[in-house]
Amino acid sequence: MTALILANTQRTVGWVIASIVLVGMGTYILFSFRIGKREVGSEIDLAPNRVPHADDDELETRFLDRNLAWSLVTLTIVSLILPLYWLMEPARQDNAARDWVSRFETRGARNFEEACVSCHGPGGTGGVASYTITDVDGGFVAQVEWKAPALTTVLSRFDESEVRNILNYGRPGTPMPAWGLPGGGPFTTQQVHQLVVYLRSIQLTPEEAADQILGGLRPGVRKIVRSADPGLADSADVDAAIDAWLAGAADPSSPDYLAYGELLFNNPAAQGANACARCHTPGFSYGASDAEATADLMAEWPGLVEAGVLTGYQPATGHVGPSLKGIETHFPTAGGQEGFVSTGSEIGTGYGNARSGTGGMPGFGGRIDELKVIGTVDRSRILTPEQIAAIVAYERSL
Ligand code: HEC
Ligand code: HEC
Repeated sequence: MTALILANTQRTVGWVIASIVLVGMGTYILFSFRIGKREVGSEIDLAPNRVPHADDDELETRFLDRNLAWSLVTLTIVSLILPLYWLMEPARQDNAARDWVSRFETRGARNFEEACVSCHGPGGTGGVASYTITDVDGGFVAQVEWKAPALTTVLSRFDESEVRNILNYGRPGTPMPAWGLPGGGPFTTQQVHQLVVYLRSIQLTPEEAADQILGGLRPGVRKIVRSADPGLADSADVDAAIDAWLAGAADPSSPDYLAYGELLFNNPAAQGANACARCHTPGFSYGASDAEATADLMAEWPGLVEAGVLTGYQPATGHVGPSLKGIETHFPTAGGQEGFVSTGSEIGTGYGNARSGTGGMPGFGGRIDELKVIGTVDRSRILTPEQIAAIVAYERSL
């Protein structure tokens, strides 16, 4: 808005200067170049003590004319450049700002390459972090491979100030370290902003995001259709069965509806980026993805059980986010809970029937952001309202 007013006042100033210059020039030409008129004083003779140099006739005609002509040329140039400067200034400022955005993106990309790729993968497509879990006294508990989520939909789930917050302070209790000076990390406020500008450039389109969600469900559905019909051998048959299952299960009256919600809750795509379980199910990010895998993990690292970090496969009992058991007392209606999952929480804003948000709960229904220089951006939604409803139905069944 201010940019618009500024641009308009600048243009107005430009037009005012241009019209004053044009009217002034016209008036001057009208009164000064009357042809054939003799100069005042041209009738006086040359004084005897004067050095015979170029005579008055010559000085006042060729000499003077030449100098005046040059003055006129330079004056014209200056008079034209002045309004042109004002007229072109808003566009120049716009371009300069855009130029800075692309410079920020390049610098952000460079820092991402150095600081983030080792865990989040090239282009932020997801990776793993080797992580040592310790007990309250700092004693060794387990060495795990913790999934680092893809960052290619992160700006759909969090607004930019929330992402800056994660970058500044990291996520305590997970391998994500603090990167910004406020959290004791190495990056300045500007470098953190540059990282966010880089993240803008790697976000998925709505179609790619939707494909990622559905792609993530398929391995789980494959297990279901195979165990329902062990005779399915041909991969084309399996694919067709998966498609049929997905189409049927999405219907709220289907017996598979809760299983569909559960698969969405546990979506493994993009290293769990779009899953709920990675923040709400203990150990999900380092392998506790179902009962069998959790049992294996506990057998491999008995310390996890001794330290009380993992006591079995306990979906949605709380990790980075709170336990979702008995969520009905907090969200009396499914609709209210769906709205919350769609928008996520905001720092200091109350949600449900009591709690105050920390900004840590992402929104999954897409978002519209107003960015400086760039303007309005429509961030892809991660889940459709129907998918959110299926997840909420699953959560409320726990
Ligand atoms: C040591 C490994 C590691 C490094 C290095 C690292 N991250 Fe992370 N990051 C993680 C893990 C693991 C998570 C997920 C934590 C969890 O389970 O909640 C994460 C989470 C995030 C999130 C939140 C994503 C979400 O959807 O919840 C953002 C944003 C992020 N990292 C950005 C970065 C950036 C930018 C850098 C480089 C400056 C970086 N990370 C470096 C491991 C790392
Ligand atoms: C990046 C971590 C993260 C992910 C991913 C996440 N949540 Fe959350 N969730 C939180 C946090 C943190 C809170 C607590 C609210 C806050 O701190 O603002 C929360 C709160 C909630 C609540 C309210 C619980 C209560 O009683 O306060 C619900 C319901 C919920 N999440 C559902 C979901 C669903 C459904 C998904 C997946 C579609 C999901 N969450 C994914 C972190 C996460």
